[in-house]
Amino acid sequence: MRILVVEDEPGVRASLLAFIRELGYEASAVGTVADARDALTPPAPDVCITDLGLPDGDGLDVVRAAKAARPDCAVLVLTGKGSIMAAVEAMRAGAHDFLLKPLKPALLASALARLSEHQAPPGPARTEPAAAGQLGGMVGRSPLMQEVFRLIARVAGSEAPVMITGESGTGKEVAARSVHALSRRARGPFVAVNCGAISPNLVESELFGHEKGSFTGAERRRAGTFEMAHGGTIFLDEVTEMSPELQVKFLRVLDTRTFRRVGGNEELDVDVRLVASSNRDLAEAVKSGSFRPDLFYRLNVFPLLMPPLRERKADIPALASHFLSQVEEKERHGFTSFEARALDALDRYEWPGNVRELKNAVHRAYVLSDPPDIQTQAVEAVLGVPQAAARQPAADQGAETWPAVPVRVGETMEAVERKMLLATLEAVNGDRKTAAELLGISLKTVYNRLKEYGLAHPTPPGGRPRGS
Ligand SMILES: Nc1ncnc2c1ncn2[C@@H]1O[C@H](COP(=O)(O)OP(=O)(O)OP(=O)(O)O)[C@@H](O)[C@H]1O
Ligand SMILES: [Mg+2]
Repeated sequence: MRILVVEDEPGVRASLLAFIRELGYEASAVGTVADARDALTPPAPDVCITDLGLPDGDGLDVVRAAKAARPDCAVLVLTGKGSIMAAVEAMRAGAHDFLLKPLKPALLASALARLSEHQAPPGPARTEPAAAGQLGGMVGRSPLMQEVFRLIARVAGSEAPVMITGESGTGKEVAARSVHALSRRARGPFVAVNCGAISPNLVESELFGHEKGSFTGAERRRAGTFEMAHGGTIFLDEVTEMSPELQVKFLRVLDTRTFRRVGGNEELDVDVRLVASSNRDLAEAVKSGSFRPDLFYRLNVFPLLMPPLRERKADIPALASHFLSQVEEKERHGFTSFEARALDALDRYEWPGNVRELKNAVHRAYVLSDPPDIQTQAVEAVLGVPQAAARQPAADQGAETWPAVPVRVGETMEAVERKMLLATLEAVNGDRKTAAELLGISLKTVYNRLKEYGLAHPTPPGGRPRGS
């Protein structure tokens, strides 16, 4: 692995060069942007380590020149604590990672070791998104998702923190897992931390672990999240839910890239890639003061927006089949596909719960259908969409096939009426108009009764009874 160092301070330059050579790499060094440009002509080095402040220009120019000369050149930028924004900008320009000054030799060594490990055979990071509308565990054919796949494939290869936002159920966690799976860290651990769920008094020990006997109840040494994720990826789920105290602790770890176990003296290095998610607008959280801007900039290097399902309905058929195969794999009732009108019904729905809701809907429709196809009626029952098409066959069935409602002498008319109305609604999949017709009462009466029962907006019933 060949390394180019771009650093204007002669003392720092010389010691860096010596240290890198000591590690066994081939290295050369220059002190200006102009010399860096010369050194970056083919065959360009595998790795370029550059300072951001150079006498004749900006380290960003070096980043760009390196990427232009050789797109797979891994650029590490050196930056002072006060210039995180510059580092963020460098990452956007294609830098692979940044190292804080004063430089910790151990961190540089581990960064280089990781790079060299993956230099020789092209790592998984370089795989292109599959043309078949799949990436990692994700399915999507719509142009919006193809763009998301392209971004994921691209960012996965870098070490840049990724900030994934999107409504609940849009696939933020699967996206995070895909980033990890396509990265050079794929063989390392993926550790998810739900930032809202860590109890405040256990935060430290959760994240950093503790030494034996460091507090009552600490009977043995325990590794924290950072230690468990070493060499892999930490997924900070619902990052906006982090308490202010936790934000400070995180920031400290990100700045120094070291931490100590609770009750420990040893400084441990942190070698993790950060991926965070939120279903709230993070910039908004910063503005309102609930999220620290410095932490925001550290995490938001590479923003990724998961679009809501209603804006990419072209994905629905592929997603529905994907989930159907998943359920079939487990249940083995012999389902192979959807009735065409069932897919239409899925397409008409707005999916406020996004992909998660679709997944659940497919599972419920599976339970309500008879093989081999998922039936339209089942889908409509699950979605609570009363459809003309759903009631025709039901009404045609004739009175014998309707379920019976048990009533006993002594019950009030009110109770009987209530039972009858609810059972009828259930039998017609919640379609109030059909229920009113069958019962010979007005639609308004149906609504009035439901209101009396406290069911003005009843959740859709489980659907038609099975079998029959
Ligand atoms: N593109 C996709 N392809 C396949 N499965 C998906 C896709 N998107 C989401 N899913 C599935 O949908 C479910 C919800 O996804 P996920 O948990 O990633 O959403 P989320 O955005 O993290 O939701 P929340 O904000 O509620 O935490 C998961 O079971 C996931 O596997
Ligand atoms: Mg999630």
